[in-house]
Amino acid sequence: MELTEVDHVGIAVRDLEAAIAWHREAFGTEVAHREVVERDGVEEALLAVAGSFVQLLTPTREDSPVARFLERHGEGLHHVGYRVADCASALAAALAAGAQPVDEVPRPGSRGTTVAFLHPRSCFGTLIELVQE
Ligand code: CO
Repeated sequence: MELTEVDHVGIAVRDLEAAIAWHREAFGTEVAHREVVERDGVEEALLAVAGSFVQLLTPTREDSPVARFLERHGEGLHHVGYRVADCASALAAALAAGAQPVDEVPRPGSRGTTVAFLHPRSCFGTLIELVQE
């Protein structure tokens, strides 16, 4: 068993401030962490929910994958982060089970995590991110 928790649910939004404000009004959530991840061309805001997060994501540049996602699909569920104890071993197990990697090897994610993405076409239409804290 590689998974220890649902780490976060990533939601792509056009207006990060509006999405943060709406979640605060609707659910009383506060931003636990905020970060611009240059490599991925995104700015994220993490709303803590018990031991997990709702991750609001918005693109910081036109050519970011999240910008392309918004163009194609509009706002909405973008990916699910599965928390794992060991990203490399969880990635190897998923690849052995037929998952196709977006990241061939684990790489740095936000808030100091180590992550690897699995392609949605190999994961029942869902972009899965393996997240090691
Ligand atoms: Co994520």
